[in-house]
Amino acid sequence: MLEALAKLLNNAKEEIDKAVNLKELNDLRVKYLGKKGPVTEIMKQMSKLPADEKPLVGAKANEVRTALTEKITKKEAILEEEAISKQLLQEKIDVTLPGTKVKKGVAHLLTQVIEEMENLFISMGYKIAEGPEVELDYYNFEALNLPQGHPARDMQDSFYITENTLLRTQTSPVQARTMEKHDFKDGPIKIICPGKVYRRDNDDATHSHQFTQIEGLVVGENITFADLKGTLTVLAKTMFGEEREIRLRPSFFPFTEPSVEMDISCFKCGGEGCRVCKGTGWIEILGAGMVHPNVLEMSGIDSKIYSGFAFGLGPERVAMLKYAVDDIRHLYTNDLRFLNQFSVKETGEN
Ligand code: PHE
Repeated sequence: MLEALAKLLNNAKEEIDKAVNLKELNDLRVKYLGKKGPVTEIMKQMSKLPADEKPLVGAKANEVRTALTEKITKKEAILEEEAISKQLLQEKIDVTLPGTKVKKGVAHLLTQVIEEMENLFISMGYKIAEGPEVELDYYNFEALNLPQGHPARDMQDSFYITENTLLRTQTSPVQARTMEKHDFKDGPIKIICPGKVYRRDNDDATHSHQFTQIEGLVVGENITFADLKGTLTVLAKTMFGEEREIRLRPSFFPFTEPSVEMDISCFKCGGEGCRVCKGTGWIEILGAGMVHPNVLEMSGIDSKIYSGFAFGLGPERVAMLKYAVDDIRHLYTNDLRFLNQFSVKETGEN
């Protein structure tokens, strides 16, 4: 039996030395030291031995068990360390490798144009105002001098939601909302309002049932038509180039009197006549006028003390003219091949 134990120890040692991972080592622990293992087996059979052999075999069996336990513990430490360094090696990163490029988004062309105009007006002391897209009939028409049944309501086919709410057809209702709550103790009104508007148009190359407008409004003491003209000249030159000239033609809007339409000298041909200006040398850009006294009064402003001007234009039209976009739908269909062409601004910024 002593011999068997010695042989067992040698075999086990050899096998433990050969173990290459913790699993194998654990299997060996079970195999040799487990409840069904040979050492336990020998211990069990000791009762059958003659009395003088018992202590010898017992001592040897204990010795074998201790030696194996120690050996396994040592080997375990070695294997554990190996596993850790292997893992570290796998997790090693090369910090000198080039990183994955993060794709940088750019503002949509329409947003770029709107922001350009916003920045211009902010630099002239205007504030940005906003209003609801689902608007009361009162603000969209009534407060702008278009009472029920007024023929000019037909100029703008509307999406009605209920009898007295609709998707706003213009940003002009923000004028009425702003005037209504303004206190002239805070100074004159100087706002621009960019936003979405809706009309019942069939979509084609030049029409869209939803588009954007930028409304401008200035109301204070001694605001004259000359102020309007000066402001529109700055707008035209900033958006379309220093050499641009403007031309004002009489027009009609129910909420302004007098009303005008503004043309700019063609930026393509300089006024000689070309395809862009349809041979006229001029391009129509926006509608404007002096705020109608009725509109001031309806918003609680004394038209004998205060006067003002308003203008409204479509950023789509500006974008299309400036960048020769031939179909308004390009601005809404999110085709990246189109949009990415405008990823670099004229200033060369990214
Ligand atoms: N709201 C007008 C339109 O949509 C434009 C406009 C705004 C005209 C402000 C005059 C003053 O046609």
